[in-house]
Parts: sequence; structure tokens; C-alpha cells
Amino acid sequence: MTGADTSSSTASLQRDHLVALQQAYGDVLAQLGLDGVLLYSGHPRPHFADDQEASFAAFGHFMHWTGQADLARSWLLIRPGERPRLKVHAPDDFWHLPARLPDEAWMEAFEVEMGRDDAPPTLPAGRFAVLGDVSVALAESLGATCNPTDLLGALDERRVRKSDYEIQCLRGANQQAMAGHRAARRTFLAGGAELDVQLAYLGASRQRETALPYASIVGVNAHGGVLHYQHYDAVPPARQRSLLLDAGHRYRGYCADITRTWAGPDADPAFAPLIQGLRALQIRLVEALAPGVDYVGLHQRLHQGLGQLLADQGLVHCSPEAAVAQGITRAFCPHGLGHSLGLQVHDVAGRVDGAGRPLPPPETDPALRLTRELEAGMVVTMEPGLYVIPMLLAPLREGTASRDIDWPLVNRLADHGGIRIEDNVAINSTGHDNLTPPE
Ligand code: GLY
Ligand code: MN
Ligand code: MN
Repeated sequence: MTGADTSSSTASLQRDHLVALQQAYGDVLAQLGLDGVLLYSGHPRPHFADDQEASFAAFGHFMHWTGQADLARSWLLIRPGERPRLKVHAPDDFWHLPARLPDEAWMEAFEVEMGRDDAPPTLPAGRFAVLGDVSVALAESLGATCNPTDLLGALDERRVRKSDYEIQCLRGANQQAMAGHRAARRTFLAGGAELDVQLAYLGASRQRETALPYASIVGVNAHGGVLHYQHYDAVPPARQRSLLLDAGHRYRGYCADITRTWAGPDADPAFAPLIQGLRALQIRLVEALAPGVDYVGLHQRLHQGLGQLLADQGLVHCSPEAAVAQGITRAFCPHGLGHSLGLQVHDVAGRVDGAGRPLPPPETDPALRLTRELEAGMVVTMEPGLYVIPMLLAPLREGTASRDIDWPLVNRLADHGGIRIEDNVAINSTGHDNLTPPE
């Protein structure tokens, strides 16, 4: 359960958010000839042949109304012109504390039933759809269609542009996460191991590990070059060259996704200027964010900027253009410039246009998750990276581009892994608003 925020501005923004959501659902349901939709929160999965469960986050469309990431086995019935009906799974159970609901504005707008069982509510006569992690058989037993793609696509599209309430939540998530990043940096510079960094991050950002929006990426030295490095060494490194920390926070359902990279006391002198150069590039790209901007075009600018940075820092001896054309920049940064951010870290509808038509990424950039034109209300991450990934550099060592790369310098940087700098930015009507506070 997310913490209650009782400030009156949050409550009033949340009321507006819910009124707009009711209107949006009414429009979508009318267009598709439906009388209502039943949203299932989902439930945690037990480990095979065990009574322990994996961590859990509720279905995004369920959270769009409630913001409750840990409300499991619960149902939400939405009908135009009716109060949303929420059935919360709250069984009599002396092993666990039954689900609790926070004192937030959405509660007043809902009819809430605390149910002892997790059965779906009976649907009234009419045409209904069920969305969420349910079987076709269950939907059929309710006389409803199961996860129709036209409805899912239309509702995903309603999550692309965030309400003022949602932007406030994303800002709150960023503030909490940045408190964690500050503490993590101090812990690293004091000689901590990856595990110490993660524990400091959790403590200062006030969250338990299962509530994180994604597993923190805590890469010391070469581990920073593994894009989604997943382990936490418990022993401090003998030499502290670098730390890449990609770690977030969930606030009232909404996710922060922030990355910072720091040079350690044993860093090669070439490393800190690369961090500064990548940060300057990131700031330039953030400054370009505005409605009407093509995000794919911005991703291409990232590569031109990386080519320039590699040339300026002596990692390549060719022109920035040649570094891009030969695939050198893509070997140093194989992921996209960023993605849409919201109730999911990689939020929905990033690769379709407003009418749901596919917008695949360019062949050169298969990992780019956001390919649409920016609009006011969108929130995106901006996360340029620069890594030494041996697997991706190996083909360059063999080919004609090899002569343009300063391999001794690349080899010196290999033990530093890589650099990523990631902020979360809202697009507004005049430009943008960076939700990530300064360090
Ligand atoms: N934390 C995952 C990402 O940056 O996309
Ligand atoms: Mn990230
Ligand atoms: Mn990200």
C-alpha cells in the first residue's frame, strides 16, 4: 500500500483525475458498444510446489483508478454514469493483516466492498469485458469478453498523457528516489559494497525491496556495463572505479526510474570527463523536449552526440558522423534514449500512434521503446548511456572500423563498466518540466 498523502491539492487533483477517467472510459465504452468493464487487480504467483510467493504489482489499468500497487485478488467494475465499484479481497485471516485502504480522495468516489472471498462480482445484464490476468473460461462464466484488444488498446492510449495528478505523483516518486540516490552515492564513496549501496538506497528512499518498481541495478566497476545487472556483491571491491545506480520508487502507483553514475577514488582519469560529457549531452537532449518533437529523431541526435563525445574524448579517431555510420556509437550504447513512464516503468503504448497503428523502431535501433511524437502530458525518461560491453565491441575489433577506435583507452575503461544518466521529464504545452530533482 502506498502511503497516504492527505494534502488538499493532491486530493483535489485526484478528484479531477477520476472525473476525467470516468469520462474517458465512458467515451471508449460507448465507441465499442460496451456497458462496462471489470478490471482485475491480479495476484502474486507462488513459487512452484512452494507456499512462498513472488513479489507483485497490480494491473496498470486497475492502478489507474486506485493507485494501489499491492491490492491483490480485487475487482473494479466501471460503468458509465455509475460510481466505480471496488471489491477488495479482505479475508478473515489470522496469518496476515487483511488489506487496508488509505485515506485518499478516490475512496469517496467509489463504492467499496470488503469481500471475504476473491470471486468476481456478478455482472448486471449487458455487454461487459473483463481485463486483467484472468482466463477466457472465467470471463465466459461471467458472460463477458476476455481482454479484447480494441478495448485494451483504447485504454492504453488514455494512459499515454498524464493528468496533473499523475504528474504530481511522478514528481513525488522522483523526490523519494533521489533521496535514495544521494545516500547510495555516500555509501559507495565510503567504501561500501553493492549490497551496502542497495540497503542505503532502500533506507533513504523509505521502501522495502518488494515495493520497488523494478529491481535496482547496482553496478560497481565492470558490472556497470551489464545493462540490467541483477546481483549485489556483499564484499566491497578491492578498487573502486565506478558505480552505476539505476533505482526507482513507486508513489501512489507511479514509478520513478532514475540513473546516476559516479567515478570512484580509483577511477582512470579518462572516466570522469566521460561522465561530465554524457551529462552535458543528456541536458542538451532534455532541452529539446516539447510537444511535436519526434522521439525517434531525438534518439538519432543521441547517436550524433555520442559520436562527438567519443571523438572529443579520444575514444575514436574518426569524425562523429563516421562513428555513427560504422555502428560504433551503437556498440557503445545499444539501448534506446528512453521510454514512456507512468504506472509501469516501461509504460504502455510507446510504439503505436494515437490511433493504435504500430510504429516499429528503426532496424538500427530495435531496443527503442518510444517511437511516437511527443505530446503535452507525456512523461518520458531521458537516459543516454556509454558502456564498454565486450560482446558488442568484439565484432568492431575484427572489422574495418577497428582502426578508428583507440583500443588501449577502451581497455583502460573496461573495468569501469559504463555510464548511464537518466531523468524523468514531463512534456507540457510550452516545453518540458524535469521531474528529477538535482542531486
Ligand atoms: N530501469 C530500467 C530502465 O531504465 O529502463
Ligand atoms: Mn532506469
Ligand atoms: Mn528507464
